[in-house]
Formats: sequence, structure tokens, C-alpha cells
Amino acid sequence: MCGIVGAVAQRNIVPVLIEGLRRLEYRGYDSCGVAVLAGGEPRRARSVARVADLDEQVRETHLEGFTGIAHTRWATHGAPVTNNAHPIFSRNALALVHNGIIENYESLREMLRGKGYEFVSQTDTEVIAHLIHSLYRGDLFVAVREAVQQLHGAYAIAVEHKDQPNTVVGARQGSPLVVGLGQGENFLASDALALAGSTEHFIFLEEGDVCELTLERVRVADRDGRDVEREVRTVAAYGGAVELGPYRHFMQKEIFEQPRAISDTIPQADSFDASLFGDAAARAFGEIDNLLILACGTSYYSGLTAKYWLESIAKIPTQVEIASEYRYRDSVPNPKSLVVVISQSGETADTLAALKHAQSLGHRHTLSVCNVGTSAMVRLTELSFLTHAGREIGVASTKAFTTQLVALFVLAATLGKLRGHVDASLEAQYVRQLRHLPAALNSVLALEPQIIAWSEDFSRKENALFLGRGLHYPIALEGALKLKEISYIHAEAYPAGELKHGPLALVTEAMPVVTVAPNDALLEKLKSNMQEVRARGGELYVFADSDTRIVSEEGLHVIRMPEHYGVLSPILHVVPLQLLAYHTACSRGTDVDKPRNLAKSVTVE
Ligand code: F6R
Repeated sequence: MCGIVGAVAQRNIVPVLIEGLRRLEYRGYDSCGVAVLAGGEPRRARSVARVADLDEQVRETHLEGFTGIAHTRWATHGAPVTNNAHPIFSRNALALVHNGIIENYESLREMLRGKGYEFVSQTDTEVIAHLIHSLYRGDLFVAVREAVQQLHGAYAIAVEHKDQPNTVVGARQGSPLVVGLGQGENFLASDALALAGSTEHFIFLEEGDVCELTLERVRVADRDGRDVEREVRTVAAYGGAVELGPYRHFMQKEIFEQPRAISDTIPQADSFDASLFGDAAARAFGEIDNLLILACGTSYYSGLTAKYWLESIAKIPTQVEIASEYRYRDSVPNPKSLVVVISQSGETADTLAALKHAQSLGHRHTLSVCNVGTSAMVRLTELSFLTHAGREIGVASTKAFTTQLVALFVLAATLGKLRGHVDASLEAQYVRQLRHLPAALNSVLALEPQIIAWSEDFSRKENALFLGRGLHYPIALEGALKLKEISYIHAEAYPAGELKHGPLALVTEAMPVVTVAPNDALLEKLKSNMQEVRARGGELYVFADSDTRIVSEEGLHVIRMPEHYGVLSPILHVVPLQLLAYHTACSRGTDVDKPRNLAKSVTVE
């Protein structure tokens, strides 16, 4: 999973490529690089630091050119060292960048070694560069078309050759690639966002497409080698720098943006109508009798939360599955299922593949809950509901999660109403509760100073347990995920009733146990579970609703939530957990917005 950009122009294109990389860093940031053709052999700069460092290098070395390709990497094959950073060269004649994984790279490498090619990196990408070089007979487009026939796996590539100084060739299979059409210049990128400011006219290449960009022309051939015309779409991608304002990190800013993001996501109408999900929703919702939710990571946890709502409010059986598992197992398709995919980016490879798999099994009704309207996921589903979180830059998802919860609650209420379980008075109550959310969130955000005080303790720990029950168990899971991914503290979440079946063995004075304690039907049970922890010397950190009568004492720390929020409580209870993870990570001095080994958008499986 990486980001690629390429361009042919009549001006020095390096600043455009570097800016494109900055915008693609969400796809990985283990290393980055750029290669240009400026008469003769390609020249490149590469860095294992961030794009800012690469920018400095190109300025210092006066790396300039009219034709170029660039890459930001999330390491799969080979460590994040300079030698493995793209662009990868073949015999100083050809430069190539790649996003994806080549599964048959070992056999190709042996074959190419036999032809005298020397491998200097540990990447799977190097085989593509040498393969195209070995097939090059004066026409890069032809060589790439021949080469991709031999590749198994996923790829989006951009290639340039010293003998064709005004040409960049691209190809895609399983990884995204768009062509940007300019005036006397043309571009390639993993995402239209990378080219914002350079063009608003894009061709979204299809699976198996190979394209050739020259100054005046873009040529596209399909997987069978036939020249094809692809639709040109106008997309006004916003590429402007997002300001940090008074915040230290984007994650903190995004946590504080949640009242606004949620109010933008709540439907304006005072009723739950199927049309909120698309024109075809009324018919589709009438034809289903169960839901299958597919997602990854934080989005999966929003799906898990939704299951509680969907089964209690809409009384509709709901199954939630990790997309990467569903796509590879034998499952029993049910034509009466509504398949729901949840994704911030709409480009997560596993979720996309799971959706396509579900469709291939005959599932007709599909719905995406997504934050990016132009994404592949939204394009592939029959129905969609867009969350309006705005651009999320911090790798750890926050406002995307809470807006997904809003969308899924609206889905549960809508299906509940259609199925006769939500009458007019309950509908009005749900609408009121939704409208109150932004104000309620602001009160929760005001707890930040108390959470900062806790984070000092947490920053010295190496392990943590998170407990929740019922509707708040997925919230405990999300709290643990946030803590581990940005503070690198090992954290596990359990449904509190499960503690005695094993995890209790981990509890000692050194183990902080974070507990999500809303005042719901399971509160008394949860209190018993907390006693089990206290009896073993475990230190409890409890987020309790205002009316729970849980009070601080030795070994029991309590932060009181401003109100009791009823059915929407998970949306509020996750916020202090986000803040706890954030401030703990700050105390430990980690790179909060770009935690190690991760990427914002996971576009490889
Ligand atoms: C964690 C996080 C990830 C994503 C996951 C799915 O903070 O952000 O777990 O939730 O990679 O991404 P999307 O929602 O873009 O499909």
C-alpha cells in the first residue's frame, strides 16, 4: 500500500510531484522518493524520513525535470531503508514506482537473474522494473502491456524510460490509479486528491488498464490490449493544506471536531426515511430480512456497536464480520441480506474485496457507510450513506468512527420504523437525542484536563485492560485499539463478564483496567466485575455516567460523564477513551498523527 504520482509536462514537475506525495502520505510514510527524466538517464532522490526531507534533498541537489514519477511507501517486501525506497531503477534506463504486492515475484526474479539482471533491493517491485526493461524494444507502452501479463497480484505502477523522455506509462490491477488530464500536460496518481490544483478532470482507470501519457495525449488499453475510451469525470478534490489551528496534532483537532462532524452527519429531516440511503433504498429495505456488516479496524467496531442497535431497535438479525476473514471463508449467501460495508476511506482493500466477494455470491443489496463520496466503495454499492466527518488526517480514526455510529444508528431507526418497531413518539425521541449529541459531546470534551492527569500514570505502563459490557463492549475494543496504535502500550479489551474466564490472571497492581460504565441495565453486573479486579489489586480507571454512584477510592479512579445518554451513549463514551490514548501518546512522545508501521488507508490486503 503506497501512493504514486507521475507527470509529463513542459515545466519543472518536481514541486507538483512532491506536493502530490504530501497528500498521499496517508497511504504510507516509511520512505519516499522521486525520479525525473532530464535528458539522459533518470535521476532520483529518496528518503526514509518524511516528504519534507525529500523536498529539502531535491532543492539542494537541484533535481528538476519535465517528466517524473514519485512514491510514498508503506513497506511490505523489504525493510524501510533507502535501498528499498522507490523509484526503483533497472540498469539506469528505466524508473518505476509501484503500489501493491506481486505474488509471483520469486519465480520472476529467478527468470530475470537468468537473463543477467542484478537485484539490489529486497522489494517485489524490482522484478517489475527489470521485467519491463527486458521487454523494452523502443515502445514503453508495449513493454508494459507485455510485462503485466506475467504479473500475479496487485499493482498500480508508473514507469518512465530514458529513451522516451516525454512519456509516462501506467497500469493497474487491484490497486487504484487515476489519470489527470491537463492542458499540454498529463498526470497519474493513486488518488485524485494528489493532483488537486493541477487538474479537475480525471479518468478512473479500470482493472487491467494500461495507459500512456504524453504531453498532448492519453491512450488507454484494456486488459485485452484493445484501445478504449474511458469516461472523463470532473472531481473538484480539495487539496488545500488543512490548518492545525490551536491544536498540537491533527488527532486532537479531529477529536474536538466531533460535535461539528456529527451535526453535519445527522440528517436534517425530522424523520427517518429510507431515501436517506438512496433512491433504491425503500425497495431494497423491503426485500431484506437480515444484515451482514463487513469492515476492518475501527470501522469494524462501529459495525459491532451497530449490531446491538439493529437487533434491539429494528429487530433485524445482524452479523458483523472482519472483511479480511469473510472474503476468504466459505459462507452461506443469503439473497435477503443487506450487505453493509463501513469505511472511512472507501478504499480499504480488504473491505472492497469482501464487498466484491459478497456480490459475486449473489448478494444484490449493498450499502456503504463511507466518508469519501468519490471512493470505490461508494461507486460499487447500490445504496450509500455519506458521513460528513471532513478530511481525517490523523492515522488513528476518531471523528470518522463517531460519525459512522451516527449513520448506523439512523439505519437502525429507519429499519425499525419500516418494520413497525419505531412509532412516531419513539422516532421523535430518537431525533431529539441525535440533535442533542453535539452539545453533549462538547461537555464530554471539557473533561480533557482530568484525562490529561490520568494519562501521566498511563504513560508509565506497558499493558492495559479495557472492559465494557453490551453496547459498550465495542467501545472498550475501540479504546484499546486507540491506545495501542498511538502510544504503543499493549492493550486488550474484554466484555467484562468474560474476565473471570482467563484475562483475570493478568490483573496485578501493575495493570490499569479502564472501565466504560454507563448507567444501563448491566451496571450492577459491571460493578461486580470491577470488584473482581479490585480484589486482585488491579487499578481501576472508570468512566462512569453521572448517576452511577461509583465513587473514587483507593485503587479506583473515576471520571464522571456529564450526563447519562441512553441509547446513544457509545458515541459519547468513546470520546474520553480517544483523549486518554491521545494524551498518553503525547506523554510518551510518539508520532501521534503518523504512528510507526501504520498508514491511514490500507489499500493492500
Ligand atoms: C484505527 C484505524 C483503522 C481503520 C481501518 C479501516 O484507528 O483507523 O483500524 O479503521 O484501517 O479503514 P477504513 O475505515 O478507511 O476502511
